Amino acid sequence: MSQDQKKRNAAKVAIDYIKNNAIIGVGTGSTINFFIEELAKNKGFIDGAVSSSVATDKLLKEYNIPIIELNSVDELPVYVDGADEATKNKHLVKGGGGALTREKIIAAASKKFVCIIDDTKLVPILGKFPLPVEVIPMAQSYVAREIIKLGGQPELRRDFITDNGNIILDIHNMKIENPSELENKIDQITGVVTNGLFAKRPADILIIASDTEVIKK
Ligand code: 5RP
Repeated sequence: MSQDQKKRNAAKVAIDYIKNNAIIGVGTGSTINFFIEELAKNKGFIDGAVSSSVATDKLLKEYNIPIIELNSVDELPVYVDGADEATKNKHLVKGGGGALTREKIIAAASKKFVCIIDDTKLVPILGKFPLPVEVIPMAQSYVAREIIKLGGQPELRRDFITDNGNIILDIHNMKIENPSELENKIDQITGVVTNGLFAKRPADILIIASDTEVIKK
């Protein structure tokens, strides 16, 4: 089975967590695009979505799903998003699509975070996928030097500016043995906006699609 078919299968199962007329948080990426397609099959199923990126805004608009500002709602009941890596503890690396900051804000403001992945993304230890860090442009060199002190190898994501006008440093070869501790350490570097570790606020539900089944953890 193709990776895309597995992503689609996981996305279908995530629909079970959405109640009629809800306003939900929606992430960014190819897996979430399948989820938006599923949402759109039931016209008027949800009242609207808080979107995590300009790319997701575009797709929601194409399907006439109302986009709601986060500041105009209270806590969101559910946030659905993909990930680049996940452990069985539901710690994640996110930000392959560069939307990590808005994704982290929506995750923080949501009661339940449902993360949908295919089984290639389930790992025993995070860090094989380069860890994205959103950085204020003038702090690029300083932040890169501080990341090297933490043991990682930062690489500027070429030709990429985030929806917030910042750059991304992708950290290679980082040994992520304690995700919450590293999340804190990177966030404390002046000039860092957010890093792609989701450990302090992990997923609540992991939906994992393999060739033969879709399991929920
Ligand atoms: C975007 C993300 C995505 O969830 C992550 O990159 C996974 O993407 P895809 O569903 O395309 O594999 O964090 O910032």
